Amino acid sequence: MAKSWVNSAERIGADLHLELSGSGGRRAALIDALRAAVRGGRLAPGTRLPPYRSLAADLGVARNTVADAYAELVAEGWLTARQGSGTRVAERARPLRAQPMRHAVKGPVTAPPRARAPRHDLRQGTPDASAFPRAAWLASYRRALQQAPDEVFGPGDPAGRVELREALTEYLARVRGVRTAPDRIVICSGFAHGLRLLFGQGGGGVLRGPLAVEAYGLGFHRELLRTAGVRTVPLPIDEHGARVEELTKERAVLLTPAHQFPTGGPLHAERRTAVIDWARARGGVVLEDDYDGEFRYDRKPVGALQGLDPEQVVLLGSVSKSLSPALRLGWMVLPERYVEGVLAAKGEREAWASVLDQLSLADFIVSGSYDRHVRRMRQRYRSRRDRLVAALAARAPHIEVTGVAAGLHAVLRLPPGTERSALKAAAWQGVALDGLAAFRHPEATPATATDTSATADQDGLVVGYATPSEAAFEAALEALCDVLPPDGSAGVPAAG
Ligand SMILES: Cc1ncc(COP(=O)(O)O)c(C=O)c1O
Repeated sequence: MAKSWVNSAERIGADLHLELSGSGGRRAALIDALRAAVRGGRLAPGTRLPPYRSLAADLGVARNTVADAYAELVAEGWLTARQGSGTRVAERARPLRAQPMRHAVKGPVTAPPRARAPRHDLRQGTPDASAFPRAAWLASYRRALQQAPDEVFGPGDPAGRVELREALTEYLARVRGVRTAPDRIVICSGFAHGLRLLFGQGGGGVLRGPLAVEAYGLGFHRELLRTAGVRTVPLPIDEHGARVEELTKERAVLLTPAHQFPTGGPLHAERRTAVIDWARARGGVVLEDDYDGEFRYDRKPVGALQGLDPEQVVLLGSVSKSLSPALRLGWMVLPERYVEGVLAAKGEREAWASVLDQLSLADFIVSGSYDRHVRRMRQRYRSRRDRLVAALAARAPHIEVTGVAAGLHAVLRLPPGTERSALKAAAWQGVALDGLAAFRHPEATPATATDTSATADQDGLVVGYATPSEAAFEAALEALCDVLPPDGSAGVPAAG
C-alpha cells in the first residue's frame, strides 16, 4: 500500500511529501520517490534531508532502509553526505526545466495565454514598475509589523484598518481637498473592487443602474459593470470634459474629473458645479474616479469634486498609479447614507485587502514616504512627458499631443482614418500602445464632421509614457516616432 510522509521535519525545518509505491520493495520505492522529488524540483539543490530515524518513523520503514536509500543516491550523485551537515541534495542535481504542458485533450482553456512582452511598452495604465520604492516600503512594512497589536493577525474589520483610514483622511484633505472622516472611508482592493461593492453582483449593492459614464473610458470597467447587471449610458465628452448637462434619467454618473480618462482634460469648473447641482436636484450621486489626481505638471491642481459636496459624491482612489497596481489597495470615501450598505457588501471580515499591507500603507503615508515618492515620480514623469513632446515636435510636428498637463499618458491626435494603420505599424515594430477607439463606449454616437466640439471622436493613439523603465524610455520614444503616419497622410475618412 502506498505510504505517505507529510511532516517529519521538526528537527530539520524542511517539509516533504513522499509517496512510496510500486512492488519492488521499500528501499527501491524510497529511492524512486526521492529521485523523482529531486528531478522534479520539489527537493531543491542544497536542501537538507531528514535524519534517518525521523524519516523511517514517518514512513514506517526500518532505519536501515532509509540509510541504504540515501547511500545509493549519494553514490548516484543525487545526494551528498558530509560529516556534520547531514545528507543534502547535491548542487549539481538540477531539476529538469519545466516543459510546457501539451494538452492532448480538447476543452475550454482555463487561463488566457499570456501575450509576449512587447519590445517597447507604451501601454497606458501602469506606473514605472522599476521605480517601486522597495526600501521605503520595506521599512514601513517592518515598522508596521513590529508595532502591530496581536489582534491584527486575527480577522480584519471590513471597513479596513483604522490607522489607514485616519492616514487617508488627513492625506486626502491635504492633497486632494477631500472632506471626510475615518468612519466614511472603506478600504477596498482598488477602484474596480469599489465599483463591484457599490453595484453588487446582479443587483444588491447600494446603487443601481443605469449609470452614465463618459463616452471614452476603460472597457474593462464597462464590462465589469455589465456583468454586475448595470447598464451604462455614454455621456459625450468635449474639450471641457463630460457634457454633464446631457444627464437625463440616470441616478448615478461615473466621471474622471481631475483628468478625463483617456482624453486628458479636467472637467470644466462650471460643469463641476453643474453636476453637483444635478445630483442634489435628482437625489443622484457622482462616482469620482480619482485615479491619478496626484500627477499634475503645469496646471493648477484640480481638487477632488468630492470636496464640493461630500454627500453627493463617492470618491474612489487607489495606489495603482501612485505606487503599483500589484498592491491591490484602494479606498472609497462615502456619503453617510452608503456606508452601512457598502460594509454589508464587503462581508463580515476583511476578505480582500491584506491587513498588513494596509498598515504598511498607513505608515508609508504618515512617515512622509508617500509624499516623497509621489514628488519624485512627478518629476520623473514630467521629464518624460517633456521628452515625448519634444521628440514629437522634432520628428512629427504635424501630430498634435493633447492631455499632457497631468497624468501618466498622452493622446496623439492622428490624421483622420490613420489610427488603424498606425496601430498595425506599431505592432509590426514591437511597440505596444492603444488607439483611442479602444476606449470608446460601443453605444457612443460618432461625431459628425460638423460637430467640432466632440474632440474625442478623432483618430488618436494613447501613449503611456510612464510604463517603460528609465533605461528603456528613449528607445521606446524613437520607436514610437518611427511608426507615426507621415505628414499629409490620410486613410479612410472618419465615420459620420
Ligand atoms: C481610469 C482608471 N481608473 C481607475 C484605475 C485604478 O484601477 P484599480 O485601482 O482597480 O487598479 C485605473 C488604473 O490604474 C484607471 O486607468
